Amino acid sequence: MSKSAELAALIRDRAGDAAPEYGLILGSGLGHLSAHVAGVAIPYDDLPGFPHAGVSGHVPQLVIGQLEGRRVAVFGGRSHYYESGRADAMRLPLETLAALGCGKLILTNAAGSLRADIPPGGLMMLDDHIAFAGTNPLIGERTDARFVPMTDAHDPRMRAALKSAAQAEGIELAEGVYCWFSGPSFETPAEIRAARILGADAVGMSTVPEIILGRFLGLRCAAISVITNMGAGLSDEAISHDHTKAMAPIGASKLEAVLRRFLREAQDR
Ligand code: HPA
Repeated sequence: MSKSAELAALIRDRAGDAAPEYGLILGSGLGHLSAHVAGVAIPYDDLPGFPHAGVSGHVPQLVIGQLEGRRVAVFGGRSHYYESGRADAMRLPLETLAALGCGKLILTNAAGSLRADIPPGGLMMLDDHIAFAGTNPLIGERTDARFVPMTDAHDPRMRAALKSAAQAEGIELAEGVYCWFSGPSFETPAEIRAARILGADAVGMSTVPEIILGRFLGLRCAAISVITNMGAGLSDEAISHDHTKAMAPIGASKLEAVLRRFLREAQDR
């Protein structure tokens, strides 16, 4: 049995057989949502091969259960490329999600904005991305499945449903291009200017490898950034991880409202 099939069996033993409809990965400081899931929490430590989510602001557990009437699998933490140098650090968790029979993935993250009209505290849904970190989680994959098309990698139907959910909640949900930097250092002001010229609207250190892996595994994907700061050099505010964690809850309450409405009313089939 593959590792992901073994993990899926272990998870089913604890949480029941029903396949989750949505997988959700929660970014830095955005873990609160999992507290609302009526279900079973499984610490990553009980799931061999899952990341020891070593970044403060993440809660390393998988929560499976009901949220707004949908069965969801919520990942409280992720592993980032910068923790190990492995862009495929989230491959096993995502393979496990697919092995559970889940078909849709929603990713969240904290990000820096490059646009004055998407200020800190705001939300930006990714309509596309740039893998500026210069690596790919599928390097080393040997099958032809590695040649994953990335057109519409950010699922148009899920995006439309998320947009309507935001509208129904009266919450502004900008859309734009997310540029993946490796981190863990923040960008320089010159890198932020370069990203802007390349067509980015926000920058961050995660999510893109998970979208690539998600598409590889046949999951439909959408992602939303909580903007915690302006990109380096775009404001006088100092950028730090503490600032990210302090700001994330402001956008997180909006994100939670959008996601809950989306799950209640999702017409993304
Ligand atoms: N850059 C990269 N990652 C981030 C930022 C940023 O400005 N803010 C939150 N995560």
